[in-house]
Amino acid sequence: MVNIRIMSEGISRINFLREGLKNLRTVGTVTPSSRFLCEAMLSPINFAEAKVLVELGAGNGVITHHILRKMHPDATLLVFEVQANFCDILRNIDDPRLVVIEGSAEHLPAYLAEHGFTHADHIISAIPFVILPKELARDIVATCHDSLAPGGHFVQMHYSMFLKSFYEEFFGEVRVRFCARNFPPAFVFACNDK
Ligand SMILES: C[S@@+](CC[C@H](N)C(=O)[O-])C[C@H]1O[C@@H](n2cnc3c(N)ncnc32)[C@H](O)[C@@H]1O
Repeated sequence: MVNIRIMSEGISRINFLREGLKNLRTVGTVTPSSRFLCEAMLSPINFAEAKVLVELGAGNGVITHHILRKMHPDATLLVFEVQANFCDILRNIDDPRLVVIEGSAEHLPAYLAEHGFTHADHIISAIPFVILPKELARDIVATCHDSLAPGGHFVQMHYSMFLKSFYEEFFGEVRVRFCARNFPPAFVFACNDK
């Protein structure tokens, strides 16, 4: 059983490496987040109360699995991903609470509405905003800010502190946590201004 899990994690890492190398300008890395980084990203979230969760830039679903393990049985998770190959992997996750959206994160309000929601309780993002066109990055983060329910968190990972002031523009205070147990080591920005 352990061997099967190690083998499937290995295959999943190779697929991620291939996808990352092919599409470095949108994927932004060649390795998926470690479980330590996934846990650090989810630590600000109160899963007992969250009913509408959104994940942006889900990749091969490494954070998605952690979210689904913690999520309330009645909650919904909308995940956005632009790479078709990653979306195929995400659609294979067998969980009725999961909605996979093959599309870009700036369309979040339309997809929330389509599923009967006005707001997201929390948004978890691994989109590599550092390498996205500036206007698109601004559009997506502004949309996230406007789509959050009162008290909701926008949680974002990065490999540098470079964009901290960018998030402060939208959310005011940004709390930063460093995660050394990831390759490369990463920062988790937790934003919540309401
Ligand atoms: C750094 S990878 C993170 C993958 C995975 N969540 C993890 O933590 O290992 C960033 C992901 O964001 C996706 N992405 C980039 N731009 C996006 C956009 N505008 N909307 C949705 N996803 C996007 C990429 O295709 C890539 O899968």
